[in-house]
Amino acid sequence: TYIVTDDCIRCRYTDCVEVCPVDCFYAGENMLVINPDECIDCGVCEAECPAEAILPDSDPRAEKWIEINREYSAQWPNITRQVAPPPDADEFKGVQGKFEKYFS
Ligand code: SF4
Ligand code: F3S
Repeated sequence: TYIVTDDCIRCRYTDCVEVCPVDCFYAGENMLVINPDECIDCGVCEAECPAEAILPDSDPRAEKWIEINREYSAQWPNITRQVAPPPDADEFKGVQGKFEKYFS
């Protein structure tokens, strides 16, 4: 599976949603997650994310986020269309520590 990391938080560009063939993204207020059981491992979303927030679960950096993706994809609504990112999305690109401050 692929997963979304905290790099998505407050960037939320949703380019990933537009390319996913199985619509397995779920939307929180500040971040999206992937349902690991629905993801078919095609990998196309990884390259589309301007914040480089998507990783395969085989990446060591993904480990911390696998459970977050599993847990919140079961709670948040499915998102199937790209929407406008937050107006200040670019200011949060690559910022560290977003999970602690802004996860939702
Ligand atoms: Fe969707 Fe493919 Fe990304 Fe999985 S890897 S979330 S199936 S686009
Ligand atoms: Fe987030 Fe990147 Fe998608 S910022 S919403 S994972 S395009």
